Amino acid sequence: MPVRATAREFLIAQASSRRSVRRAAELVSPSSRAVRSTRRRLARTYLTGHGLEIGALHLPLSLPRGAQASYVDRMARDDLRREYPELRSYDLVDVDVIDDGETLATVRDGTVDFVVANHFIEHTEDPIGALASHARVLRPGGVLFMAVPDKRHTFDANRPVTPLEHLVRDHQHGPAGSRVQHYDEWAELVEGLSGDAAAARARELERDDFSIHFHVFTPHAFAALLTHSAEAEGLPLELETIVPVRHEFIAVLRRPDPALATTAIGRHAAAALTARRVSQMA
Ligand SMILES: C[S@@+](CC[C@H](N)C(=O)[O-])C[C@H]1O[C@@H](n2cnc3c(N)ncnc32)[C@H](O)[C@@H]1O
Repeated sequence: MPVRATAREFLIAQASSRRSVRRAAELVSPSSRAVRSTRRRLARTYLTGHGLEIGALHLPLSLPRGAQASYVDRMARDDLRREYPELRSYDLVDVDVIDDGETLATVRDGTVDFVVANHFIEHTEDPIGALASHARVLRPGGVLFMAVPDKRHTFDANRPVTPLEHLVRDHQHGPAGSRVQHYDEWAELVEGLSGDAAAARARELERDDFSIHFHVFTPHAFAALLTHSAEAEGLPLELETIVPVRHEFIAVLRRPDPALATTAIGRHAAAALTARRVSQMA
C-alpha cells in the first residue's frame, strides 16, 4: 500500500467518482500519521493472540508481534474494490470471512482474543446489538478495540448527537423504524439538500442500501452508550480507556475474566478514573 501518499492526493482520489464525493472525508487517509500511530500504540498495549478485524478495508490495524487477525467484511475484496472506487490506488485487505459485522453469525461464542472495529459502529443500524455480538465472540479477558469518528470533527458536524433513547429503541424494536429518518437526516444535514431534492436523494440512498453513518457520536455520548450497554443491557464489557486523536476517538473495552476478578477497591478506582477521563473530553 502506498502509505506515503499525501492527504491531498488521497482526497483527490476520493473525489474522483460521484459515489465517492458523498464519502469524501469519511475514509481515514493512510497518511494521517497521528491517527495511525495512536492506533498502533494502543494495539501494542492491549492486543495479543488471534482476533478479528471488521471492515479493515484500506487501513488494517498495525498489530504487535504475537497478535494476528482474520479479516471480516460484508463483501469480498473485489466487490469492495467496486464499492470504493476512490480507493483504487490503495491495497485493500483480503477478506477472510464474509459476514455481517453486526451479528458475526459465523463466529462461535468466546473464541477470539480481540475484535477490532475501526470506523464501523457508526455504520451499524443497531449499535447495542453490534456491541452484544462483539462481546459474545470474545473469550473472557478478550479486548474490543474501536476507533469511532467524533461527529463534531467530520461531515456529521451539523447532525445532532444520536440520543441514547434512539439507540435503545433501535435495539429493542429493531432498526427498521428509524431508517427513513436516518436517510432524511443524511440528505439534509450531510449533503445539505432540502425539500423534494432531499427527499428524492434520501429514497435513492435507501434503495441502494447505502452504508451511511446511521448514528453519530461524541466521546461523551459513546461513553453513555457503553454505560447503558453494561448496566441496563448486561453486556459483559468494561471500559479500559478512551483516547481522542484528531477526528476520532479510540475506545478499548475488555470482556471481564471472572478468574481474574479485581478487588472491589480496584474496580471502584478504575471506574472513577474512567469517569474523570470521559468528563475531561466532553
Ligand atoms: C469506513 S470503512 C472503515 C475503514 C477502516 N477500518 C478505517 O479505519 O478507516 C467501513 C468498513 O466497514 C465495512 N462494513 C460496513 N458495514 C458492515 C457490516 N454490516 N458488516 C461487515 N462490514 C461492514 C465496510 O465494507 C468497510 O470496509
